[in-house]
Amino acid sequence: MALNQTEKEAIGVEVTAELSKTTYACTSLTVLSGGTANFIFRGTLVMPLPDGSQSIIIKHLKEYVAANRNFKLDVSRSVCFSIPSTLDFEEMMLNVMDSFPAVITDNFSVRTPHLQYSNCNTNTHILEDLVGTMDMKTMLVTDTKYDVLTQPMCIAIGRALGHWLRGFHNWTSAPGQVDLRDYMSGNKAMREVRYGISYGAFIDVVRKFPEIWEENREVLERVKNMAAAEYANTNLQETEESWTIVHGDFWSGNVLTPDPTTFQNQQSEGGNVFVIDWELAQYGRKEYDLGQMIGDLYERKHFEGLGSALWILQAFVSGYGVLSDKMAFRTAIHAGVHLICWYIRRDPNAPFTEAPEQIQDAIRIGTDFIVKGWMRDLTWFEGSPLACLFKHG
Ligand SMILES: Nc1ncnc2c1ncn2[C@@H]1O[C@H](COP(=O)(O)OP(=O)(O)O)[C@@H](O)[C@H]1O
Ligand SMILES: [Mg+2]
Repeated sequence: MALNQTEKEAIGVEVTAELSKTTYACTSLTVLSGGTANFIFRGTLVMPLPDGSQSIIIKHLKEYVAANRNFKLDVSRSVCFSIPSTLDFEEMMLNVMDSFPAVITDNFSVRTPHLQYSNCNTNTHILEDLVGTMDMKTMLVTDTKYDVLTQPMCIAIGRALGHWLRGFHNWTSAPGQVDLRDYMSGNKAMREVRYGISYGAFIDVVRKFPEIWEENREVLERVKNMAAAEYANTNLQETEESWTIVHGDFWSGNVLTPDPTTFQNQQSEGGNVFVIDWELAQYGRKEYDLGQMIGDLYERKHFEGLGSALWILQAFVSGYGVLSDKMAFRTAIHAGVHLICWYIRRDPNAPFTEAPEQIQDAIRIGTDFIVKGWMRDLTWFEGSPLACLFKHG
């Protein structure tokens, strides 16, 4: 059961007390909506920081995640002791990303926020407050009210994000990052989480749709077995071009874009985009990041009718650049698994608001992405919304 507002505020009081002795002392804390795995607060500072910032973002991890108190996370402590926790992996990535410069494409700059303080005893991170931003998932929906998000702007944002991801994957794959790859391969808890909510779950969803299941079960089971073996192998695979450090939770909720209410008159000028929430960063396949973002944006188009999500999706793929067919098919498989797992990302106790046909269609489309990807059916993909994955120039 999710914590109520009063319980979240009680945690805020604890955090305020902790920070009161630091330069990050706050006059007040607001619980930010959108936090599903952690407690995220915006704190108003007693004294502005030397750079003039008047507020901070506080990320605080308890032994359970914020959305569900029965779901225990590995918070075994830490750099303080010898076993790193999930927040330590996030801390490591945020620190190293300070040396990965912002990637600028078509006037959009993409980077990660700076980590300003961390306390491994209390599981608290303080991040720069990225004011004037909104997570891309909310931004796409909010724009339906303001209608300022043009197609060229979506294309620019998508391309910038794809270009950033290619740069990030290239950077983490470089020979000089071998120690970082080795360290991040230790994020086994989050690797299990990621498997559990994707390849470990999609078959049970498809089974609920017997027509789709009966037709495709053999391939779906093979895909699951392949992924299970892949996730179980925790050795570094230095000769495999796809394996490197991945963000691990690369979806529109973890990308901050300009708030549409502020960019009304700045469409040609671009803006700042940020990639946040590095807790699931792990050693994995590049296709996990690519496929998750594609599956997520497709989901927004499918369930919310957001054409803008499809523009971003296609530009994101083109910004990432040419993929080998092997990578493209594997990305499509991952996108399909992600789309199907929409079914388990929703609150299991809430009634469906979507029409049964729309739900069944999503499961069928996700299954097609997987099965046609597994069969390497280029002709099928050429007539699909994922044709962009196979463009060679
Ligand atoms: N540095 C930041 N600046 C501004 N808002 C942020 C920042 N970090 C997080 N947020 C807000 O908090 C939400 C949840 O943050 P996130 O790091 O994704 O945590 P969770 O693990 O709960 O998903 C984001 O969608 C965004 O609205
Ligand atoms: Mg998040």
